[in-house]
Amino acid sequence: MALHEIQRRRTFAIISHPDAGKTTLTEKLLLYGGAVQQAGAVKARRSQRASTSDWMELEKKRGISINSTVLQFDYQGYRINLLDTPGHEDFSEDTYRVLTAVDAVVMVLDAAKGVEDRTRKLFEVCKRRRIPIFTFVNKMDRPSMDPLALVDEIEGILKIAACPVNWPLGSGDAFRGVYDRQGKRLHLFERTARGAHRAPVSVVGVDDPAVKSLLGAGGHAHLAEELEMLDAAGEPFDAAAILDGSLTPVFFGSAANNFGVHLLLDGFLKYAPPPQPRSAHPLVVAPDHDQFSGFIFKIQANMDPRHRDRVAFLRVCSGTFTRDMAVTHARTGRRVRLSNSNKLFAQQRETVDVAYPGDIVGLVGHSDFGIGDTLTEDAAIAYDDIPKFAPEHFAWLENGNPSTFKRFRDGLSQLLQERVVQAFTIPSAARSVPLLGAVGPLQFEVVQYRLETEYGAESRMEIAPWKLMRWLPPATDVSLLTRATLPIGTSVAMDADDRPILLLASDWALRCFTTDHPDIPLSDTLLGG
Ligand code: G4P
Repeated sequence: MALHEIQRRRTFAIISHPDAGKTTLTEKLLLYGGAVQQAGAVKARRSQRASTSDWMELEKKRGISINSTVLQFDYQGYRINLLDTPGHEDFSEDTYRVLTAVDAVVMVLDAAKGVEDRTRKLFEVCKRRRIPIFTFVNKMDRPSMDPLALVDEIEGILKIAACPVNWPLGSGDAFRGVYDRQGKRLHLFERTARGAHRAPVSVVGVDDPAVKSLLGAGGHAHLAEELEMLDAAGEPFDAAAILDGSLTPVFFGSAANNFGVHLLLDGFLKYAPPPQPRSAHPLVVAPDHDQFSGFIFKIQANMDPRHRDRVAFLRVCSGTFTRDMAVTHARTGRRVRLSNSNKLFAQQRETVDVAYPGDIVGLVGHSDFGIGDTLTEDAAIAYDDIPKFAPEHFAWLENGNPSTFKRFRDGLSQLLQERVVQAFTIPSAARSVPLLGAVGPLQFEVVQYRLETEYGAESRMEIAPWKLMRWLPPATDVSLLTRATLPIGTSVAMDADDRPILLLASDWALRCFTTDHPDIPLSDTLLGG
């Protein structure tokens, strides 16, 4: 087992509210990895919305980015896997699944906007997994919030200790650079040269004459005061607290100007963990376990019309992956040979012969692989399932044309396996039409669009009246939950794994239920394990 290969891997994702600068930061990180061409590809994806595929036609039409890619690059001896996450909030379930496959996260904030809604939601998922979170406060070249207020906001809203690793000198037009609190070096920002900046200037401390002359007397006094306050009252730096997810190191910069990105990347590599052990209840599997194992966290069909196929993205968790290896598919117990293994970058594919824990491998052509499935050489390992979230939108989906029923059925079953949406059955319902649930309504559009373009199946969608769904405890005696005991408009149904659920029409109905049935705990998330 190549321990060195595990130790040098860093697998992470970037989370942010749309427009905070995730794409820009991704591009700049790739530039450091020497992947200039690839950085161009990210940009192309953003600007052209990858118009080469039918599937992406929908993205283009709606101006959204649904498709996630995995970017791999080398930097200073590290092998970095950066997992891209969909930008649109309707696909947040996809994002959550990607987050199960990373060991750390970079959270990008817009310096003028602070902690925004979507960042907060994504952050909560990371916090639940207790993964290390690095904060990048972006767009310091624009008028920004007061940095102390920003740090307060991170701590107050996100309930995580925040320790600025560097500190901005002004913002907007007055942004002069950042002060590295650990190295006591000043990194100067020059607005004119987009993408270029002056080499760091070493200073002995904040009282160095270089700092004084740069900031002027007033600016210098202000900075000295802020730094003093941080030293005295701020959260002290604590590498162990970063690793257990209780403290986020904060970096300031401007991704568009390529400023502060280097400091972020260096700090990230210094403090982010290598691939971590993973729970396969009752086992915890260490990455240096000598037998190969991994799990599938994402499935994407028809990413590219040149390859009309289905890619299952596998996160390697232990051992060494080698192409053509035979493994056990834990859910079915079947032996499978993993021959068609790929690394994907935008539209390009490259065969992967060997991969180590932390790496992501795209497996092509296995129609029975589902989200959360374990592939393993060690038959004792079955990783905990990936969490499912309660949908907030519901619709009936009906076959639109009797002569293409089989295509409709097969297509839908494939899309459900990809977890594009969730499906439920209502035992008491007169109709046998599938009820679908989604976190965001665009997911329904994707289902209809893909049924038509990929499977040639027409469908009719009818919005269902529920607004909320909650999982009931598995042992609930649902026969006791009759119309008489349930709030108006509430139905009992089963999810795809035959777990009982409640469908509710409103928050009010939910409150009524919890008041009437304090003994029945409800859950809005189904955690694996
Ligand atoms: P996202 O992926 O998080 O949605 O954000 P993205 O990187 O696409 O950035 C959103 C917008 O913010 C882009 O402008 C981008 O150029 C700009 N931006 C990113 N980082 C900075 C920064 O450090 N400073 C400033 N001033 N702007 C920044 P756009 O007009 O939407 O796109 P473009 O025309 O620049 O490509």
